[in-house]
Amino acid sequence: MVLKVSASFMASLPGQFVMVRMRNGDDPFLSRPFSIYSAYSRGNDTYIEILYKVVGKGTEAFSRLREGDILNILGPLGRGFDIPSTCKKIALIAGGVGIAPLSFLAERYGEDIRGMEILCYMGAGTSESLAGLDRLEDLCSGVKISTDDGSRGHHGPVTELFKQDMDLYSDDDIQLYSCGPNPMLMSLQELLKDRPFACQVSLEERMACGIGACLGCVVKIKSGETGGGLVRVCKEGPVFDIYSVEFSEYNG
Ligand SMILES: Cc1cc2nc3c(=O)[nH]c(=O)nc-3n(C[C@H](O)[C@H](O)[C@H](O)COP(=O)(O)OP(=O)(O)OC[C@H]3O[C@@H](n4cnc5c(N)ncnc54)[C@H](O)[C@@H]3O)c2cc1C
Ligand code: FES
Repeated sequence: MVLKVSASFMASLPGQFVMVRMRNGDDPFLSRPFSIYSAYSRGNDTYIEILYKVVGKGTEAFSRLREGDILNILGPLGRGFDIPSTCKKIALIAGGVGIAPLSFLAERYGEDIRGMEILCYMGAGTSESLAGLDRLEDLCSGVKISTDDGSRGHHGPVTELFKQDMDLYSDDDIQLYSCGPNPMLMSLQELLKDRPFACQVSLEERMACGIGACLGCVVKIKSGETGGGLVRVCKEGPVFDIYSVEFSEYNG
């Protein structure tokens, strides 16, 4: 979905998100969070894109929108990905629509990191649900695919695909960025116990307000910049160091 927004959105960082709500409607009443998939200007106008999967009421309502319809949008929100200046090589590990913030990362930092390798490991349920693949192939030096049903690429989870390549990388020259369902992020965390590459993840908790007020999105963090304990994904995140996330009953 392409949204015409205010010029301030040009400062959006990959990993940041927007809260989107149907206008003039109480159904659904609450806004829904979506990662910013792209941000650009054309002439005097600024646009963002979101890549959404229809899973329920809100996203189903989006799918019925037509060009020119108006939505309520709040953002950009949250803390985006950090790209260390020493970073030489990037691997993006995505599950499903988790590709959205990672594709924006490749788009936004493409200029700075030209000449460096950006590799992408992209997993989805089926070949039809590999959304955003063409764009990624333009932005990255290589895209490897996995599907749960084996209809395209590696047959199995994307973490398995990444595991096959782990020995190609050395600890000090690669930075990982990941986004996807929690079970996928948990297996990535497990995989990295043996090879602790630097890795930032964007979490997709359910959110009600998106601005730190309702405490509906808390997760448990072991330690780190935010001090540990229960933190709000919308405010202190959604991007966290993978080693600091405690995937537990709080984190689905
Ligand atoms: C920071 C952030 C970024 C996100 N970015 C994207 C994105 O780029 N593209 C995209 O398609 N989705 C994204 N999501 C998830 C998206 O917000 C939900 O899919 C959306 O809110 C569902 O709304 P709905 O009204 O269609 O579904 P609902 O009717 O609210 O729910 C339908 C079903 O989906 C489940 N569900 C809803 N939200 C989540 C969630 N966050 N995690 C796990 N299960 C959930 C519900 O439990 C229910 O079973 C993001 C979430 C967060 C927090
Ligand atoms: S969604 Fe309300 S505090 Fe995070």
